[in-house]
Amino acid sequence: MAAAWAAGDLWVLAAAVVAGVVLVDAVVRRAHDWVRVAALGAERRSRLPPGEMGWPMVGSMWAFLRAFKSGNPDAFIASFIRRFGRTGVYRTFMFSSPTILAVTPEACKQVLMDDEGFVTGWPKATVTLIGPKSFVNMSYDDHRRIRKLTAAPINGFDALTTYLSFIDQTVVASLRRWSSPESGQVEFLTELRRMTFKIIVQIFMSGADDATMEALERSYTDLNYGMRAMAINLPGFAYYRALRARRKLVSVLQGVLDGRRAAAAKGFKRSGAMDMMDRLIEAEDERGRRLADDEIVDVLIMYLNAGHESSGHITMWATVFLQENPDIFARAKVQAEQEEIMRSIPATQNGLTLRDFKKMHFLSQVVDETLRCVNISFVSFRQATRDIFVNGYLIPKGWKVQLWYRSVHMDDQVYPDPKMFNPSRWEGPPPKAGTFLPFGLGARLCPGNDLAKLEISVFLHHFLLGYKLKRANPKCRSRSEMDGVVAASADATRDEIKIMNVYIWDMDETLILLKSLLDGSYAGAFDGLKDHDKSVDIGKRWENLILELCDEHFFYEEIENYNEPFLSAVKEYDDGKDLTTYDFEADCFSSPYDDLNKRKLAYRHRAIGEKYTKGLEKILDHHMIKVWNDLYSATDKYTDGWLSSALMWHNQMLMWYNRVLMRLKLYKVGASVPCMRPSHKLLEEAMGKSTAESTAKHSSINCIVTSGSLIPSLAKCLLYRLDDVVAFENVYSSWEVGKLQCFKWIKERYDGPNVRFCAIGDGHEECTAAQIMKWPFVKIEFHPDAPHRFPGLNLPTIHRIMDTVYDSSSNDG
Ligand code: HEM
Repeated sequence: MAAAWAAGDLWVLAAAVVAGVVLVDAVVRRAHDWVRVAALGAERRSRLPPGEMGWPMVGSMWAFLRAFKSGNPDAFIASFIRRFGRTGVYRTFMFSSPTILAVTPEACKQVLMDDEGFVTGWPKATVTLIGPKSFVNMSYDDHRRIRKLTAAPINGFDALTTYLSFIDQTVVASLRRWSSPESGQVEFLTELRRMTFKIIVQIFMSGADDATMEALERSYTDLNYGMRAMAINLPGFAYYRALRARRKLVSVLQGVLDGRRAAAAKGFKRSGAMDMMDRLIEAEDERGRRLADDEIVDVLIMYLNAGHESSGHITMWATVFLQENPDIFARAKVQAEQEEIMRSIPATQNGLTLRDFKKMHFLSQVVDETLRCVNISFVSFRQATRDIFVNGYLIPKGWKVQLWYRSVHMDDQVYPDPKMFNPSRWEGPPPKAGTFLPFGLGARLCPGNDLAKLEISVFLHHFLLGYKLKRANPKCRSRSEMDGVVAASADATRDEIKIMNVYIWDMDETLILLKSLLDGSYAGAFDGLKDHDKSVDIGKRWENLILELCDEHFFYEEIENYNEPFLSAVKEYDDGKDLTTYDFEADCFSSPYDDLNKRKLAYRHRAIGEKYTKGLEKILDHHMIKVWNDLYSATDKYTDGWLSSALMWHNQMLMWYNRVLMRLKLYKVGASVPCMRPSHKLLEEAMGKSTAESTAKHSSINCIVTSGSLIPSLAKCLLYRLDDVVAFENVYSSWEVGKLQCFKWIKERYDGPNVRFCAIGDGHEECTAAQIMKWPFVKIEFHPDAPHRFPGLNLPTIHRIMDTVYDSSSNDG
């Protein structure tokens, strides 16, 4: 009994302690909040945004650090939204200052665009490391002047042409070195930072010798660790090492500066073009004052750091994202522009040009999406110079403001499914102002944004065309989202990369009906149950529509006799000229036997490709669209859903390719896979049921190889609504070269360690060609009595056939 009482007492005591701690915590927090805001007066206090100041001294710093250390950095802002609602601004206490957190596009935009109301407000520890005379601490006028001087030479892609060939050569040499057998494993991020550092040093301090570069680079590594650490200036702590690194940087840069001044005093002129250091040495303000050495050194320390660190990280993540998403990798490499760019570079051209860079549309989407997902600059700091209202709440004069770019980029109301890496979300119009802030906005917009994008794109271009990564430590992502060490190697294993299936379809009588309608054999197969004349009539209407589209929009009368096997076959003659105002009727096109007319043919092919991509709704007039829709419906009705079933089947494959896989890959854990359900009852049976396991392992690309000529085949793809599932680059005409040759080209384009091919059709030629290629072949047979288009055919069946062929061939050898 006594023991029972003792246990009860202990429980009471424990409960009292917990209640006491909770009470003390609440009282201390309230008191801290009151102390911080009391001086504002009742009126201004009542206008403050919601939030809490946390404990004295630490404020919200523990919660902030905990969120980032736990691998869920978004938890920090999420806790404010959960507790105080979606007000867009919150008050708190961080880095020893009362602070407003701005977390929505509107709030960030307002602060960033008001350079009189807000100046920079970086924590003191950061300013000490970057430099008190750098942009993070300069007066408004000095900032404007030195920014103008230094930003112009690295801003705008035209200004960057000067550096392009150096960037190109540096990237090519780096990739070659890392992938050479002598290099063994390399630390990918370290090497990328070295590469971007070499580039920025060339721009700012050309001619720096290797010893100087190495000394600087080592010091920057320590400086950057210190910037992300607690500001504890004691031996053994990162911040202490960072301060030491800064002193080293100052001394190395001062040495270079002294050398230049001494040479100039002796009348020596430096060889080569002026670099940024020269510009800073010669700069004068309106009163003729030149910059002092410590000002030049601090500006250089800031630029050299900003100019390599973020670019190196983003390059790494873009590469990793591409590598881990074989479907996006394939699209960037083949379906989008990189191979095309490579093909179009004339033999006389040395390296990439700006024109090539401007063609990298999809790659630019990949880079933007990487910037959005990675958020290397996740927050920025300002300070209010006067009382200002944002989102209806007061930001008191002198308070710090943190701009949470990361929250904007991860806001599911701005970016649906924000954790999904999906470059396609950048198709269409540019984002609304304030919603995409990887480089900030306003007067302090990153001056190196164009340079960074150029470097990253040049790297990805070369990487996509010739390299792969193999991670030596695949678990490192979970340790930290920002840090990764990846090893370069020549190949990747089948387990790590998802399998990509390339389906090669025959067109006529497999995906579309025309011949059998025209000659009545379609109706004939139904033993009089189908109206023969109607079949022929529908066939003729299709024929007319195809020809009309070819003649009206695809230059068919002019180019009919010059059939090419695919649309980019003459791409090498295309000089990239802007065709918006080009007059095709007046360019006197004739037989493309010389370079000039080959170029005119290439222009026509490009225009056709662009129209194909836009879709028929954009190029046909209202009347033609109606004719087309009516004919499509009539055919579908007459053939019991023959056309739409083919399309649905294709769409199912594309679903894997586009949505499901991307969702599953990088971030989603344990999500169930949505399976497309066709609305047509007959189709449901035809499509069978795919399982989460099978979809998770595969992605797919559709190609068409048709024995018809190319231009009408493209028209057919559009009219039979296959353009959403087959890109124009993937349509091949075997008319003059035969199917086997087309299959070989497709293999050349897509072949890789995890790529499988499968031919699907109804004819002998594709069957024989598939046998020669050792690809599985799925025969489409027409059964008039079957209830749907592909009797007995569904994804699991196709995969079983492919598994059998590929597994036995891998066992063979
Ligand atoms: C992917 C690469 C890069 C990212 C994500 C990035 C991001 C940013 C961001 C967000 C800011 C604005 C900070 C603010 O709002 O206060 C900024 C400023 C700055 N960046 Fe970058 N940057 C990158 C590359 C570069 C490069 C290559 C250079 C140098 C050539 C550079 C030089 C600077 C400088 C000097 C500033 C300060 C501008 C000012 O205060 O006026 N950055 N950067």
